[in-house]
Formats: sequence, C-alpha cells, structure tokens
Amino acid sequence: MADLLLKKGKIVFIDGVREGDVVIDKGVIVEITSEYKGPADRVIECQDKVIFPGVVDAHVHMRVPGSEYKEDFTTGSMAAISGGVTSFLDMPNNIPPIISKKMLSEKRSLIDGNSFANYGLFFGATDDNVEELKRISNVPGLKVYMGETTGNLIVRKDETLEEIFSYTSKNFPVVVHAESQECLDRFSAEYSGEDARSRVDFHSVVRPPECAREAVKHVLHIAKKFDARVHIAHASSAEEIDVIRKFKSDKVTCEVTPHHLAFDLSTYDRLGSRAKVNPPLRSREDVDALWAAINDGTVDAVASDHAPHLLKEKDGAYEQCPAGFPGVETILPVMLDAVNHGLLNLDRAAQLLSSGPARIFGIQGKGQIAVGYDADIVIVDMDLEKEVTNAAMLTKCAWTPWDGIKLKGWPIMTIMGGEVTYEGGKFVSSKRGKELTFRSPDAL
Ligand code: DOR
Ligand code: ZN
Repeated sequence: MADLLLKKGKIVFIDGVREGDVVIDKGVIVEITSEYKGPADRVIECQDKVIFPGVVDAHVHMRVPGSEYKEDFTTGSMAAISGGVTSFLDMPNNIPPIISKKMLSEKRSLIDGNSFANYGLFFGATDDNVEELKRISNVPGLKVYMGETTGNLIVRKDETLEEIFSYTSKNFPVVVHAESQECLDRFSAEYSGEDARSRVDFHSVVRPPECAREAVKHVLHIAKKFDARVHIAHASSAEEIDVIRKFKSDKVTCEVTPHHLAFDLSTYDRLGSRAKVNPPLRSREDVDALWAAINDGTVDAVASDHAPHLLKEKDGAYEQCPAGFPGVETILPVMLDAVNHGLLNLDRAAQLLSSGPARIFGIQGKGQIAVGYDADIVIVDMDLEKEVTNAAMLTKCAWTPWDGIKLKGWPIMTIMGGEVTYEGGKFVSSKRGKELTFRSPDAL
C-alpha cells in the first residue's frame, strides 16, 4: 500500500514534461508510471495540473540571529512553503555573522524544529577565519563577500582567497557576492555630490556592472589556479555573463534572481527607494543578456536572494535605506509566469529552480521527480492568474516588490516528504523540515 498517489498530472522531469502517476511511500518517490493500479492511502487527482519538483532556493536571508524583527525561521519558512520552496540555503550575514564553528552550531540549534522547509546553513568567510572553516561540516558552501552589503562581512585580501580555494577545492563550493569593494569605493567618491544622490536610480549608478565584472574576473582567475568550485551569486549584468561564459566549466556555476530577470531601471519610478538592492537593478540590455544566458545554459540556477527589510526601513532616505527584496514566496510564481509568457519552458524552469541548485550544492535526495528521490513536490496550476499583494505575503516584512502585479501560474499545494503541508491557502500539517545533507564534491 502506497502512502500517496498523485494521479494523472503533467510531471516535470529534467528533460521534459510527460503525463502520469507519481507513487509515494514513506516519504520517497517509489514509482512513476503512466497508470498506477495499486492501492494508496490518499489519492490526489492532478488532472490539468503540473507536478513540479519542490523548489530548492539556494540563497535566502532568514535574519536569525540578530534581525528577528525582519524575519525568523518560522515566518520565513512558512513563506517558503506557501510559495512552493521546500528547501532553502541560508546566508551567514547575521548579527553576529556565522564565521566560527560555535556560531554555526548556535544557529543550528536556533533553526532546529522551527523551519517548515528543509534547510542548509552557509558559513561566512573573513580575512582570518580559514582555520575555523576547516573545523566545520555539512555546510552547502562558504560565502565570500567581495564588496560590502548588509552585515559588512567581507574578504579583502587575495592571499585569503588563495588560502580559501586551496582548502575548499576538495570540500565544497565557494559562493561569491562579486562586487569589487575597490571599484565601489571609486564610484562612491566620484558621486559624492548632492545632485547625484537625489537621482532615484542613484544606486545603480554608484554600483555599476563594471564593479561586478571586475570582481567576477578576479575571483575566477584565482579559483582557476586551484581548480576550485565557484558559484557566482546573483549575476545581474551582461558584463558578468560574458566573463562567466568564458570561464564556464563544471566547476564554475552561477545563479540569477527573479528580480534581476523581471525588473530594470524603470522600476525605480514604481518603487522609489524600495528598489534598492545589491547588486542593483540594471538596464534592459542587461536583463535581456540574463535571459539569453538562461536559455543558452550559462545560468545554472535561479535563487531569490530573499532579503527582507521592513517598509519603514525601506521607505527611509536613500543612504539609510537597507538593500534587499523579499522573494522566497514569489520565486516560483514569477518563473511560472515567465513560462506562460514563453520565456522558458517548464523543464528548464525545474532545472533552474530545483535540480540545478541540488546538483551545485550536492544536496542528497532533492531536486527531481525521480524514483528514489524525496517526495518534496509542488502541485502547480498553470492557468491560475492572481495579483500579488503585500497583504497576502507571509514574510514578516509584509511587502513584496511584485505588489499589484498579476502573475499567471501558481503553486496550489506543497508536499514535504510525502505529506501535504500546504493546501488551499492554508497549512494543514505541523510537519517541520530537516537539515539537508551535503555530499562532498569528491563523491560527485
Ligand atoms: O540587497 C541585498 N540584501 N544584497 C545583499 O547582498 C545582502 C542582502 C541583505 O542581507 O539584506
Ligand atoms: Zn544575498
């Protein structure tokens, strides 16, 4: 007797969409067939619906410890599950930052039992914590900030990068926030006058693509010497994509965010200072280059960079306004809407949202609708059209840059480890997620 049968849905595999039944037992996908005739405890009719692998969001900031007033593991993971994200990887720019074995285990105890979704916790690099790095285990990777952003974690020295890559090459990927601090300093000195600051799109002017390109080029050169694995976070410009394409290998991967795919400089008129994000919004040409890179295989993953800040912070003066957009609960509908607009197909969306991140970070048992994989699944209605509203958001920060925008293609049910946890707009189970298990690249 199977526990759960998903009947007659359009199943999204990594290589195409085919109709059939998905049979689940003890939390695992045990059979995929055109028609299952055996018994099941529960049958869910999926006619005209899409059976999509649970989204693995490889880049979120859930704000614990230190900024729980913006988000916590319960609110952030509920937002995730409601949006079809069944696993997330959390960034280390907390207060205090996660840069020691002790802080990592404290963060582990804070999330334990509180997240509705499965999770992994990144470790943060500084110029003097490489020894700590050698003492930790089961992390998806190391996060290196080359330019300052929320939290001020940064690596300034090339010697540190070399030391890091000589260790991580055998152990795990290094995720890089690639904006060169030297370059950012140069531009902010140049634009220190009052006039420039009053431009609504000032942030995109002082953090130009040039600074991102410089950092990407620099870090990829160093990583290559060590044959190390590098994952470029939130690539946002044509200039970065050009460099990544040149260095591309199975060791060099990158992600883009839904906001850099959906918004451009014109978004400043709609959102004002709320549009401040690092890296900043870019030109229409940059957005087009990201879509081209999605479709030619240069991009390996789409990740939300869910970075919640309260509206009372976001609506302040430019300099005090923190950078970042919430996005964990809109990542899937935004990409499904893009599928409905013909910008990519469903199996490419599943590669970018689920199997891609699972492969990059060596996440065991996740990211695909395939026999033997964990039954973390989202049921999607591609015909459902809904306006995104701040009021409907579950994130504690209670707003979204998609407020007022209509999207077509929405998750309607989330299944975690074979159990329906979210259905009809409500949580129907108290099931909690688990810490993910990461394979070392040697085992890949
Ligand atoms: O806009 C951003 N917000 N970019 C980052 O790199 C950090 C993030 C945050 O944590 O707020
Ligand atoms: Zn981030």
